[in-house]
Order: sequence, then C-alpha cells, then structure tokens
Amino acid sequence: IPVQAFDLVIFGGTGDLAQRKILPALYRRHCAGQLPDTARIIGAARAELSRRDYQSLVRAALQAGDISAGKDAAGGQVDSFLARINYLAIDATEAEGWQTLAQTLGRPTADRVRVFYFSVGPALFAPLAEQIWAHDLADDQTRIVVEKPFGHDLASAKALNRTLASHFDESQIYRIDHYLGKETVQNLMAIRFGNMLFEPLWNSQYVDHIQVTVAETVGVEGRASYYDKSGAMRDMVQNHLMQLLCLIAMEPPAKFDPDAVRDEKLKVIRALEPVEPHHIVRGQYALAQEGAGGDEDQSYRETVGDPRSSTESYVALKAHISNWRWAGTPFYLRTGKRLVARSSVINVFFKDAPHSIFGADAGRHANLLTIRLQPDEGITLKVTIKEPGPGGMRLIDVPLDMSFAQALGADIDDAPDAYERLITDVIRGNQTLFMRGDEVEAAWAWTDPIIAGWTSRGDVPKPYDSGSTGPGDADLLMRRDQRDWQGIN
Ligand code: BG6
Repeated sequence: IPVQAFDLVIFGGTGDLAQRKILPALYRRHCAGQLPDTARIIGAARAELSRRDYQSLVRAALQAGDISAGKDAAGGQVDSFLARINYLAIDATEAEGWQTLAQTLGRPTADRVRVFYFSVGPALFAPLAEQIWAHDLADDQTRIVVEKPFGHDLASAKALNRTLASHFDESQIYRIDHYLGKETVQNLMAIRFGNMLFEPLWNSQYVDHIQVTVAETVGVEGRASYYDKSGAMRDMVQNHLMQLLCLIAMEPPAKFDPDAVRDEKLKVIRALEPVEPHHIVRGQYALAQEGAGGDEDQSYRETVGDPRSSTESYVALKAHISNWRWAGTPFYLRTGKRLVARSSVINVFFKDAPHSIFGADAGRHANLLTIRLQPDEGITLKVTIKEPGPGGMRLIDVPLDMSFAQALGADIDDAPDAYERLITDVIRGNQTLFMRGDEVEAAWAWTDPIIAGWTSRGDVPKPYDSGSTGPGDADLLMRRDQRDWQGIN
C-alpha cells in the first residue's frame, strides 16, 4: 500500500549514511511500489553539485550497496527512482540555498507530509531548525528525523532535546535507533505478547538469568575518528543493547501504540541499578593470533592511529533491574567488534525444575530459550527428554528449532530492512519504533556514571585477540556466578 504523498529533504544528502542506508532504503520502497508518484526526495549538502551530478552519486551508491548484488528484484527501476531525486546546495549556517529550497517546497500543505532528515552531526541541529522556521518551511505537522549519536552524555542529550523542543513538538521528532527497525527485534514483542506460553514464566520466579550478545566481526575501519571518542559503551550499549533489554524486560503495554510502548521501556531503564565496577569488563581488540585466519591485520590502536588509546571496542556487564518482576534475575549484556562471529542473540535461561524425580544421576537440566536476531533469525527452545534406549531413565537436552527463513519460506529475505521500515513509519506518522527524548536521557543517566568511573580510575581496556570471543575477564565475570556465556563460543 503506497504511503501518502511526501517531500523528504535529506540534509547530509552526500554523506555516508545517506548513501549506504537512507537512499537504498527509499529505492527499495520505490521498487516495492510504495512511494506515490508525486513523492519527492531532495538531497541537500554543502557541495556544489548539479542535479545530474547528484543523481550519478545516488546511482553509484545503489550499485555499491547490496542492491546490485540481487536485492533489486524489480530490476531496472533505477532511472524512475532517480527521476524523483533533486539536489540543492545548502549551507546550514549560511543563507545560501535556503531561498531555493523554499521555492522548491512551497508552504507546507495538509495533503503532503513534509520530512526533514537531519543526517548530519548534532552541532548542525540547531542551525538547521532555525533556518527551517526562518524560511517558513515547517508547520506543526512537519517531521524531523535525527540519528544517533544523540549526544555523548546526559548533559549533551538534554541540550539537544531542548534545542529540538524549542522548534518542534515531541510528536514531530523521530529519533532513530535502527535496531528497533529490525524485523526480529520487533518479533521480540510478537513472541512475548502474542503467545500465552512465555509470558507467565517471564519473571524472576522462573528465569535464572538472561544474556544479550551483539557480536560483530567488523572493526572500526573508516570510522576511527568518531569511534575513538565514543567506544562500545556509547556506540552500542547506551542505545541498541538497552533497547533490546527494554523490549525483553518491559511490562506488557496496554496497546501497541507509541506512548504506551515507550512508557514501559522508560520504566525499565529507570529501574536499572547502577552497575558495580567489578560487574563490567572493557576490552580492546589486538592483533589476531597467528593462524587465526582473516585478513584483518590491524589492532584497534593501529586503526585509530593512537598507540595509547583507551577506548573500548568491547563491553560485557551484569545489570540488575530493581522491580517486582526482575528482582534477583541478572541480565548480562556484551557487545564487541572483531569477534569470532557476527551474531546477535538473546538467551533466556530458565531455572532448574524444583525437584528431580529421576535422582541425582539424571543430572541438572533447565530450559533455554534462544532468540536469534541476526544472522539466521529464529528461535530455539532447549527441552529435556528421555535418552532413547533401554538404559533407564536418563535425560538429555534436545533443541526445538525454528528458523524464520525455513518457517516462512522466501518471505523473510524480502522483508524490508530496518531503514525501509523506519522511513515509511516516519511518513505514516508512527513513532512506536523511535526513541522518545526522556528514554534517551534515562539511558544516558545510567551509562554516564559507568563511563565517569572508568575515567576517574584511569581504567585501561583489556586487550583481546581479533577473531576471539573477547577478553578472558568477561568469562570470569560469568564464572564468578557459576555461569557461562552462550552464543558465539
Ligand atoms: C551502529 C554502530 O549503530 O550499529 C556500529 O554505530 C555498528 O558501530 C552497527 O557496527 C551495527 O549494526 P548492525 O545492523 O550491523 O548490527
């Protein structure tokens, strides 16, 4: 079903994100017939490019992305997509270009959705917002989209929220966390709240602990200057991992509506206890072990060009949620770059049965629910059965395994990627999968003391081999609790 007519202006239209994510996502929606004929896309950036130059840039970006590698099922629609695209050279801090943009767009009207995508650094949010209002380009229906990083601590996030709030209502602001646009992340809510099976057991009475792993094989290549100031805590934990934690731990919202869902997520973040320093491990990737394979031959410090960098590319931590449902059930989170495998998984470890009728020889068995977010999306439930054969009542664990690709046939490959879904949600005016200002602030309020603690203690991250499962201290964190990580080992 096509979305409403819209004008989308992408500030930062020549940037990396626009080329790798935003424009390919729009192209795929175009191929799916979801963009109405009258929809217009305007790239805006400082570079003096002609419309034709920009169209060539977009064409090259589509070819460089996976679109040329088979996603272009519709084939040959690049020209009709490019026909929608315009370009204007605009400087956020100068007068240049704004008059032309005003002429191109005209005054906002009720029958066209107007979206300004701020795909630029946060320093430009305020100047852009001011120019938009000074040139009469917005009304109270206009929407803006902003990307992470949304600040680098609580104070800067509050300042950004204040800046945006002085120009736009919260209902007009769409803060992107692309993890929320992932099909399987939304499936977390479907699994929890669409089945009777899980929810009655989803609490500390039945759940021993929960692990969330987001492991990457890529390093920081190409993004060193951003990443070295940020690190895994700000880049991944404060946003993506906390969003996953919220979806796993939140109470059932009364309905699937933006504020109902976001209210519940916020309550989880606010119930998080401060993390004890000995419950967190930082790591930084070193060179791979000889013979470990892979063609990566740079350590983190070599990549960022600073032999003394103490930025972490890995974090593992134990978190506690102080509320009725979760008191006593720890949540272990870990994420890192240059690890042995790309794997995002959630493991829900259920408690042992309270009494074994089969005696001590049967061993200890407990159910484990694994939700694989990427790759090979699916669910596995480990269940205990009798070992076949005449050897008496011996128990073994077997998986009840479901891969979404197998269960749903080819459809899963055609599922829109995160940006496709999120951009169409902006046009439809649905904020459910976007972060509210208070959520982002609460997340920083939890991570700030962790980062401040590292700074005041002069903490140096533990080196780990590229291609490994991370620093040994992260395993110790688990072993101290008589547990083990599950997922990428
Ligand atoms: C981004 C981070 O937000 O998410 C990157 O800035 C990270 O460092 C990326 O690589 C991971 O996203 P995905 O979709 O590949 O899991």
